[in-house]
Amino acid sequence: MSKKRLITSALPYVNNAPHLGNIVGCVLSADVFARFCRSRGYTTLYICGTDGYGTATETKAKEEGVSPSEICETYHKIHEKVYKTFNISFDAFGKTFCDTHKTVVQSMYESVNAQGFLNEQEAAQTFCESCDKFLADRFVEGECPACSYKDARGDQCESCGKLLNPVELVKPKCATCGETPSQRQTKHLYLDLPKLSERLEIWQNKSMMEGAWTTNAKTTTKSWIDRGLNPRPITRDLKWGVSVPREGYESKVFYVWFDAPIGYISITKKAFPDSWLDWWKSPETELYQFMGKDNIPFHSVIFPATLLASGEKWTTLHHLNSTEYLNYEKSKFSKSKNIGIFGTDVSELPFPIDFWRFYLMRVRPEKQDSAFSWQDFADRVNNELIDNIANLVNRALIYYNKNFGHSLKSWNFTGDEDKYIEQAKSHLKKATESLEANELKDGLTAALHMGKLGNRFFQEKEPWALIKTDQEAVERIITLLIYTVRDLGIMLMPYTPETAEKILSWITPNPAWQDGGNFTNLTGITPKKPEILFKKIPQ
Ligand code: 2FM
Ligand code: ZN
Repeated sequence: MSKKRLITSALPYVNNAPHLGNIVGCVLSADVFARFCRSRGYTTLYICGTDGYGTATETKAKEEGVSPSEICETYHKIHEKVYKTFNISFDAFGKTFCDTHKTVVQSMYESVNAQGFLNEQEAAQTFCESCDKFLADRFVEGECPACSYKDARGDQCESCGKLLNPVELVKPKCATCGETPSQRQTKHLYLDLPKLSERLEIWQNKSMMEGAWTTNAKTTTKSWIDRGLNPRPITRDLKWGVSVPREGYESKVFYVWFDAPIGYISITKKAFPDSWLDWWKSPETELYQFMGKDNIPFHSVIFPATLLASGEKWTTLHHLNSTEYLNYEKSKFSKSKNIGIFGTDVSELPFPIDFWRFYLMRVRPEKQDSAFSWQDFADRVNNELIDNIANLVNRALIYYNKNFGHSLKSWNFTGDEDKYIEQAKSHLKKATESLEANELKDGLTAALHMGKLGNRFFQEKEPWALIKTDQEAVERIITLLIYTVRDLGIMLMPYTPETAEKILSWITPNPAWQDGGNFTNLTGITPKKPEILFKKIPQ
């Protein structure tokens, strides 16, 4: 059955270049899935863009002595370039700092307001006398009231994951100047989560199950619900953001976590003004959202609650895919300490982009944290991508061209050959199932198993000896290997698209996923001589 899949990766903030951990968790994972969906023939749309608002942008602008919008434009270009280097196949890569976004956010606000899910409350808010401003949540630091972690930020505790209001922090201090902030009264709009909680929970339980969310997404969401839902403020005393169309709110903007997820919708609208509603208000659309684990509650609680509260029939999350963290060698990636490899470094390094894509997907922090290590990078690329896969591609195509060279014949395979076909089909089936379930690492492992199967068959059959006595048997064996190489090309399309394209160009360009696993459909095709696929990574 043809499916309709809307895929998003978390919209990165535009105050830094993304590091490899950001890339694998969001855009690369979503890209692998999007490429798979397209090759399956599903109607697919992959949306991303930059998240411009929030205090991080304001702070960066101040640091660099330019306006926030200049920061947004500069970093938008940097992100765009990095993702191009990584061959990320977005259907649209937009931004939240534009008029379309403003309109969509404000109209969402109007709907939620009209449905009676917004309350105004006056509350004490952290104000730094020495900086003379209200402090954004993440610019207040202190002790987490839930787990006593010392360095919790005002928006969320990194240690226990609890979403916080800065006033809840024990021993708060201003992250900019270190002074103890005071409290000042200010009024804000609050999303009435308690009033939504029953409907939200019913929706969550259904979506979690039907969409098979990742384990960390399910546990984080459940623990968040178990702690009880409180009203969440959706406005802030800031200048940089989407303005609030309401009397008395002239000097306030929407909270960045209110406007950013609406960016998925506004980016689609801007790029596809005629068809965006076919994606966002359609019961057939399955929405797949990719992100790092720190983004979970915003996508599983707050954004869906906003959509429910609007009273409109928006497409809501089907599958939430959240990764753990990727570390760099034995430390964490850190831009400020200059630790790690950043997207902008990759184009300066002398490796094909598929080395990076392959390795990152091999060590994808799917169920637990993992690490990038240079030694492991070289080992896996050399041993797995080159010695296994490239070796099979090369030997099958070279051997065929040297000894036969004509178009592929149709054969009646028997015995060992039939057994081989069954095994090859089972690896392709495993890859298909894994990718459908977003077990992206397993899909790649299946390709490596396919490579091993072909290499082992070649070794066991000793065609170099057999050819002296049974030329036909050798032609059948190598023909099977050509089919295997084609299937490998198909299995690699989502992961290493340039490599897959090259491999397939020697046999059959642009096959569909479903063309794989068929051991007769290349009859009449003449495989070409291959070129060397890769050079090994030196020590
Ligand atoms: O964590 C981040 O980088 C956020 N900018 C992600 C936002 S995702 C979506 F809601 F826009
Ligand atoms: Zn201060």
